[in-house]
Amino acid sequence: MKPKFILFLGLFALVACTDLQQLRSDNQIHPVREYEQLIVGRLDANYVGDENCLGKCHKHEQIRKDFQLSVHGEQISSDTELPLVNCESCHGPGSLAIEGVGQTEKDKCKFETLLQLEQLPAQAQSLICLKCHSAASTPVLTYWNASTHANNDVSCFDCHELHKGPQQKVSRKEMAELCFKCHSDIRAAFEQFSHHPIPERKIACIDCHDPHGSPQDHLLRGITPKETCTRCHMEVQGPFVFEHADITENCDNCHVSHGSPNPPLLKSSQPFLCLQCHTGHMVSSMNDANMKGVFYNRCTDCHSSIHGTDIPSASGGGSFIAR
Ligand code: HEC
Ligand code: HEC
Ligand code: HEC
Ligand code: HEC
Ligand code: HEC
Ligand code: HEC
Ligand code: HEC
Ligand code: HEC
Ligand code: HEC
Repeated sequence: MKPKFILFLGLFALVACTDLQQLRSDNQIHPVREYEQLIVGRLDANYVGDENCLGKCHKHEQIRKDFQLSVHGEQISSDTELPLVNCESCHGPGSLAIEGVGQTEKDKCKFETLLQLEQLPAQAQSLICLKCHSAASTPVLTYWNASTHANNDVSCFDCHELHKGPQQKVSRKEMAELCFKCHSDIRAAFEQFSHHPIPERKIACIDCHDPHGSPQDHLLRGITPKETCTRCHMEVQGPFVFEHADITENCDNCHVSHGSPNPPLLKSSQPFLCLQCHTGHMVSSMNDANMKGVFYNRCTDCHSSIHGTDIPSASGGGSFIAR
């Protein structure tokens, strides 16, 4: 190919790629400069430091105070005593924004020269945070790139609102509301008669899920489905001499996790829950000799140690009769 033609192609690629939407599509090869600009800001601007940014653009008094009290604001280099994280770390270099400010009344801060964070594609938004928060420095992000959230265009700042106050984390109190914004169907589950105490704020979504990613399906915490639950419900963990086969390896076989009309959090009511896998049996009443063969609805009235037991039954089997 002639050099001229290659140049033409290069130029074409540059023009075509200014469309940010394209970053989302497959196999994008951005010219490096263009891509850099997405996350570091205009290349003709320089970093000017907090004193200049904040001094010239006084509007942000509350933002400034909140930021200084935040974990980000508190990160100071021990060598230079300069902030490690400042406004420009996320908003891009600010020299163009403050150019001329204060010289005449009319000169305003030109915020449009900063990175337009809201307009970036989700992946680029997250990269702004990930340039500091690598998995090595922030272990919760180990599975981020493979996570359902990252792969569905959810970005760090969909959840972390950094200027709401000094708090950079998501408060436990507000967490459920945050998640329900996008997962409204889950809210309905927790309104069921039997539910994990999320509405009562005794536990939070992150006690079972890691929104940043996990080696398990459904962003679940723990190594196995069982462990997701037995981290709190240790009494049913086992191992027991008489196990309910491997049924209890996944509590999901009998329980739902969010909410259910059948207490305690059962998938269906008894005896139907058990009859999915067993045939029921008649039980002769111990007190009344005339009453033979009663079919009891509540299997766990007798099979009360349904999660497993160490105590043998009369026949020497397990049968989960005794606790
Ligand atoms: C850790 C990254 C980060 C740092 C550091 C940071 N910001 Fe922000 N800032 C953001 C994000 C993210 C948004 C919100 C974009 C959006 O609306 O989703 C934002 C939005 C803003 C907004 C507009 C929205 C609003 O809340 O009114 C202003 C103004 C602002 N930042 C000023 C500052 C100033 C001043 C500093 C330094 C004291 C600063 N920011 C430091 C990430 C940061
Ligand atoms: C210039 C580097 C830098 C950037 C960019 C940055 N952070 Fe941070 N962040 C830090 C450092 C350093 C800490 C403190 C040490 C730590 O907890 O890892 C921190 C801490 C945090 C914390 C924990 C706060 C706490 O109370 O423990 C959260 C949450 C956080 N950052 C979110 C974000 C998000 C979201 C973004 C992107 C909008 C972002 N950060 C961008 C450097 C950065
Ligand atoms: C779906 C919502 C969501 C997304 C997306 C998200 N986070 Fe979080 N993040 C949370 C919640 C909830 C917590 C736990 C509460 C807390 O500790 O803040 C948290 C905690 C953190 C912490 C504190 C971890 C610790 O060990 O204390 C850091 C740092 C953090 N997130 C950074 C990020 C970064 C960087 C991104 C983007 C790559 C991101 N988060 C994306 C919801 C989210
Ligand atoms: C900005 C919107 C948004 C917010 C906020 C959000 N999510 Fe999501 N979440 C999504 C999207 C989109 C998906 C992928 C599509 C889907 O499965 O619904 C997803 C998927 C998930 C999944 C995985 C579903 C599966 O079957 O793999 C879980 C679990 C989840 N989110 C939990 C949470 C939790 C917990 C929070 C709050 C800390 C949260 N989400 C906040 C948008 C969001
Ligand atoms: C007690 C543990 C637990 C808590 C607390 C919990 N979840 Fe789940 N969640 C699970 C389990 C287990 C699954 C996967 C199996 C299933 O669907 O029941 C799941 C599945 C999901 C899914 C994907 C499947 C679906 O039903 O759409 C989403 C989204 C989700 N949870 C969101 C949330 C949100 C939001 C919260 C907080 C309001 C929350 N979860 C609290 C255990 C929990
Ligand atoms: C963070 C701790 C925690 C985790 C993890 C957890 N639970 Fe729970 N669970 C609770 C609390 C707290 C209650 C409410 C106890 C109460 O109200 O007395 C509860 C109640 C229950 C109940 C009884 C409900 C009732 O109405 O009495 C069942 C069944 C249950 N959990 C199953 C599960 C399953 C299955 C999982 C895994 C998907 C799980 N739990 C994970 C804390 C947890
Ligand atoms: C074979 C079905 C089945 C499986 C699998 C199962 N459970 Fe249960 N679980 C039940 C039944 C039925 C009850 C109600 C017992 C009753 O009514 O006396 C129950 C009750 C509970 C309770 C309420 C307190 C109690 O002990 O009565 C908790 C907590 C619980 N299960 C946790 C779990 C956890 C965690 C797992 C996974 C390790 C699990 N269950 C697996 C059937 C099951
Ligand atoms: C998902 C299927 C499934 C469900 C639901 C289920 N079980 Fe089981 N159960 C099994 C399997 C598999 C075995 C092991 C069978 C074997 O070893 O012959 C078993 C074993 C048993 C045994 C011991 C049998 C013996 O030979 O000692 C009893 C008793 C029992 N289950 C009662 C119940 C009761 C009561 C319920 C409802 C609360 C229930 N099961 C729900 C699958 C299930
Ligand atoms: C009144 C008490 C009682 C009730 C209620 C009860 N069982 Fe049983 N079940 C027993 C006894 C006792 C045994 C024999 C235990 C032994 O010695 O091994 C048994 C044995 C079993 C066995 C072992 C296999 C067999 O047939 O020998 C299964 C499976 C079983 N029951 C399932 C159920 C189911 C499902 C229900 C509910 C529809 C239920 N049971 C209700 C007392 C009861």
